[in-house]
Parts: sequence; C-alpha cells; structure tokens
Amino acid sequence: MSSGTALVQFCDFPSTELGHSRDLQGLREDRMKEFKGKVAVITGAASGIGRGIAERCASEGMKVVLADIEEASLAKAEMELKTAGARVLGVRTDVSKRSDVELLARQALDAFGQVHLLFNNAGVAAGGAPWEATWNDWEWVIGVNLWGVIHGVKVFTPLILAQNTQCHIVNTSSASGLIAGGGSAPYAVTKHAVVALSESLYLSLQQRNSLVKVSVLCPGLVRTNIGNAERNRPAELRNEPVAMTPERQAGLTAFKAAIEASMPPSQVADVVFDAIRKEQFYILPHPEWTEVIQLRTDKLLRMENPQNPAATVAKLISLRG
Ligand SMILES: NC(=O)c1ccc[n+]([C@@H]2O[C@H](COP(=O)([O-])OP(=O)(O)OC[C@H]3O[C@@H](n4cnc5c(N)ncnc54)[C@H](O)[C@@H]3O)[C@@H](O)[C@H]2O)c1
Repeated sequence: MSSGTALVQFCDFPSTELGHSRDLQGLREDRMKEFKGKVAVITGAASGIGRGIAERCASEGMKVVLADIEEASLAKAEMELKTAGARVLGVRTDVSKRSDVELLARQALDAFGQVHLLFNNAGVAAGGAPWEATWNDWEWVIGVNLWGVIHGVKVFTPLILAQNTQCHIVNTSSASGLIAGGGSAPYAVTKHAVVALSESLYLSLQQRNSLVKVSVLCPGLVRTNIGNAERNRPAELRNEPVAMTPERQAGLTAFKAAIEASMPPSQVADVVFDAIRKEQFYILPHPEWTEVIQLRTDKLLRMENPQNPAATVAKLISLRG
C-alpha cells in the first residue's frame, strides 16, 4: 500500500457511519436561522464573553444553561436572566474536570431535553515565557482552556449527534491562537490547540455530512474580567506570591486599560450569532487583527523566523483606543 493511500484511509471516514447523513442540498436548506425555543449551553457564562452570549441567547428566546466555576456571579447571572423572562438553569461547573462536564450535560438534558448550541467558552490566562511560567500556571491554563474544550467536545458531541437535529458548537480560542507567541506561553499553546481541535471537529463532522456545525471564535481584546482571571485559580494550583515589580505593575495596568477600552461582549455575541446563521467556521470579530495574523502566516510560508507581534498589537490597540 502506498503511503498516500494509507493516509487517505487514515483520514477518510464513512459518511454514513453515524446514520445521520443528509445530502448537501438538504443541509443548505436546513441551516439554523431560528433559535426560539432551542437550548444553549454556555461555559464561562457568568462573566464577559460567555455572559454576553448568554444574554443574546435569552433575547433570541432560547432556554439557557449557564455553566461556571464562580458561584456568586453564576447565581447573579441566573437570577438576572430569569428576571428578564428567560428559562435558565445555572450549573456550577469546573470545565477542567470531566465529571463536572458530564454532570452538566446530564442536568442540561434533564432540564430541557436537548442541546442545540454549545459554547465551550470558559478560559483563564496566566504565566509568561515557557520556562518562567510555573508548573501550576501550565497545569491550570491547560486544564481550563484546553481540557475544558476537550471535555465539552467529547461529552456533548455524541449526545448532540444522537438528537439528529441542527446544532452548532462554538469553541472560544483567541487571536492568540492564530499569531506567533501571542501572550503568555500557556495561553498561546492552549489557544492554538483549540483552533486545531475545532478544525478537526469541523472536518470530521463534515465528512459525515452531519447536521452539527462548528465554529472557532478568535477575538482580539474584549472588555471582560479576563485581567482578573486569578480569582478562579484553585487553591492547589496557586503560585508562591512574587513581589510586584514596577515593570510587572506597569504591564498589568496597561493590559487592564487596553481591555477597558476594547470591544463589549454584546458586540462579540452579535458577530457570533451572525456566523452561526451563515455556518461560518472562523469567527474573527476584530477585522483589524488580520494584519498581525497575516504577519505570522507570511513568515511561515516564506520559512522566515517568527517576528514578535507585540509592536503590531500595540499599534492596533492604540488605533482602537
Ligand atoms: N477578553 C479578551 O480580550 C479575550 C480575547 C480572546 C479570547 N478570550 C477568551 O474568551 C473566553 C472568555 O473569557 P472572558 O474574556 O469573557 O473572561 P472572563 O473572566 O470575564 O470570563 C471567563 C469566565 O470563565 C469562568 N471560568 C474560569 N475558570 C473556569 C473553570 N475552570 N470552569 C468553568 N468556568 C470557569 C470564569 O468564572 C468567568 O465567568 C476565554 O476562553 C478567553 O480566553 C478573551
């Protein structure tokens, strides 16, 4: 057998394997345009982008399952969405724990019967250069940002496939998942991995002509509480306290100011819903960031060494501010 044949066999899956095939013409007509009465599950739903998406789901008339590790803000979000008239279930979930995500799926199905939109969105940021980020930083960030999305995909996809209805999975990565050395090493590693995981999920489902669609969300800066992600770090993964140097303090202050001046989550939610309606895979709510993504892609294709994107990013932030 030639290596080419072996590769094709390795990559090729029978399109009827799951018994949920639709012809392509049918799929096009089946696009998800109406959300009213359908069910959304959102991780990291108590704050920032997840909260913005939850509000949008509620305003579309969806039943909404909010999953988050932070109990007080989860209860507040649940109460506020209920007061606004939505059918809501809050489930305290640590996405880095497989058993929590399995419980989340069970509770969502018990409450509302099906899941049509799944947002694997919870995320945290920590660490710095690869060798300086602590073991705890690596474990925490990979646990939430990568294992969290793997758990969501592994637990929910078979359940969603079994429904044989139109569904859409949106995984939150970041512009840092598309550029060279974006942000801290653990963060960049997980966000690149989420892009790869999402592409793999998209292509595998496409080969089966599945009704389940996939997108990967890659925002630039969004006005959220990500700058204060440490609030959710588990006690066993905390770092030894380090002295706050003037440089570190200046960096933190500049980051928080840039976040404060950035895009509101409601705007990200608008772009996400538009993409779901169009079955668009890559969601880049900040078109101006294409410049920095282009920089990496051009270097890669020319086999030139990576260039630090910081200067281009700083220019984008100052233009926006
Ligand atoms: N804010 C930005 O500029 C930006 C840019 C690109 C990508 N993102 C991504 O967007 C996603 C949402 O972050 P955000 O900016 O809205 O920040 P945020 O801190 O406002 O919201 C993140 C939410 O995730 C929750 N969370 C943290 N750890 C969790 C865990 N183990 N299990 C379940 N929930 C957990 C938090 O409690 C919080 O409610 C993240 O994946 C982040 O990496 C953010």
